Amino acid sequence: MATSFANFLRNACLLFCVALLLSLLDAVPAQQTGITRHYKFDIQMANVTRLCQTKSIVTVNGQFPGPKIVAREGDRVIVRVVNHVQYNVTLHWHGIRQLRTGWADGPAYVTQCPIQTGHSYVYNFSIVGQRGTLFWHAHISWLRSTLYGPIIILPKLGVPYPFVKPYKNVPVIFGEWWKADTEAVISQALQTGGGPNVSDAYTINGLPGPLYNCSAKDTFKLKVKPGRAYLLRLINAALNDELFFSIANHSLTVVDVDAVYVKPFETNTVLISPGQTTNVLLRTKPNYPGAMFFMSARPFVTGAGTFDNSTVAGILEYHDPESLSSASFNRKLPLFKPAFPPLNDTSFFANYTGKLRSLATARFPANVPRSVDRRFFFTVGLGASPCPENQTCQGPNGTKFSASINNVSFAMPSTALLQAHFFGRSRNVYAPDFPVAPLMPFNYTGNPPNNTLVTNGTKLVVLPFNTSVELVMQDTSIVGAESHPLHLHGFNFFVVGQGFGNFNPAKDQAKFNLVDPVERNTVGVPAGGWVAIRFLADNPGVWFMHCHLEVHTSWGLKMAWLVLDGSLPNQKLPPPPSDLPKC
Ligand code: C2O
Repeated sequence: MATSFANFLRNACLLFCVALLLSLLDAVPAQQTGITRHYKFDIQMANVTRLCQTKSIVTVNGQFPGPKIVAREGDRVIVRVVNHVQYNVTLHWHGIRQLRTGWADGPAYVTQCPIQTGHSYVYNFSIVGQRGTLFWHAHISWLRSTLYGPIIILPKLGVPYPFVKPYKNVPVIFGEWWKADTEAVISQALQTGGGPNVSDAYTINGLPGPLYNCSAKDTFKLKVKPGRAYLLRLINAALNDELFFSIANHSLTVVDVDAVYVKPFETNTVLISPGQTTNVLLRTKPNYPGAMFFMSARPFVTGAGTFDNSTVAGILEYHDPESLSSASFNRKLPLFKPAFPPLNDTSFFANYTGKLRSLATARFPANVPRSVDRRFFFTVGLGASPCPENQTCQGPNGTKFSASINNVSFAMPSTALLQAHFFGRSRNVYAPDFPVAPLMPFNYTGNPPNNTLVTNGTKLVVLPFNTSVELVMQDTSIVGAESHPLHLHGFNFFVVGQGFGNFNPAKDQAKFNLVDPVERNTVGVPAGGWVAIRFLADNPGVWFMHCHLEVHTSWGLKMAWLVLDGSLPNQKLPPPPSDLPKC
């Protein structure tokens, strides 16, 4: 009797412990189907030589571009970041949904305080429902000019791609190379109010290629076999430039954008904005072509300011069946170059983005919110703020360049928004009253009004859990129309409509595509036009939204959404990890 009671106690305790363990596991937001992948990122300086000049740059583990993260859908990723440099640093896992892991998202002063010199922070998140390519980058000031690297998300083990199995995966990450110190460039520009300098070169996987002086040896080369399918994972990590990408004499099949599969389509040229990723299949020629082919990128430009008007080229070469060693690969082969659309080809933009459609199959459905709980209309664009007294400014008509959403230029707080919210200390940090529409409507894409000065503020939109949101973003021509790749943290959204001119709800809303709109995390608001998106606010936390042209973000083209906890335990944001940096 006594032993069986003891047994009962032991069993009950076992059961209780198992239940406790399970509930602890449950508190970790993710389906525990995958494995855990550990990375150690040491932020450190390294000397890198490009264009005949050596420069000390901020890197991860001394690598440029930084190391790639490879994981499968369903895996957990744990990155321990140790900051050994004089700058404050945060890292952002661009496009990762971060379901209930907002503390790991990374934008400085939004979800965390920066990691200070000598300090560390562990980013811990799972990859849920995503497959394709994303990237990580620094998310403070302009440090992402050198701190970036690919995130490769493979399908779950045993689950095929919805397209031909690629023979090889090739990350192709575009960046900008600056001879100048980019931290000095932006701090000076913010001082004078003028437009910042521009980069000296574009890069593919950190290499500018043969079209720049003193750079032929720094060329990305892709050596391929005939008759194979290569999956190129294109990433635009440039600071300020949208890019065209093309390979001479080869067409490309777009199969995935922003880690979501799309209906495949053929194109000679890909258009990719900062913050966007695109997987393309490159089918190599059936036989050895006896030629080499440039794979090049150059900018798509809609604004009026100066820009880096140069071209990065890599080389696509085929294994020569006649040559026994690669050393004898020295024959003078003809070299072909791709043709590009004009620099400012906005009709290419409209045409290309119109082809992007969700797969919308049973296996990969497009879960577009059919009904809308809250509608928002945001103007996005450049503007000006007054020049301080006793100073001369180099912005429009002697003012300072500024940028805003609904005429609010976002003022960064000195403490992190998510902490302020979570610990109930938001007073004097932010106001929950971001305008749902412009306070003074005007002809957004016509002649600008007289008073174009922006206001400043740290304002958020507050959304109850599971609100379904429709947001129309309208470019303005106040300081020249310009396209703005808007990036939303913490969500994918569906691009249900877009057009040029002013958005007209009466006529445009009826044409929205609710069947197979493309799902992504960064979308271009067309120059002098508008774009409409829908998303379900199913992820509690504070989520940054901003133009991914870094100069526009610096000028204030940013805001944040606060998504409140839901009522169920798995609809709440857990408390922060104990090593979360303090401001
Ligand atoms: Cu890729 Cu908020 O950024």
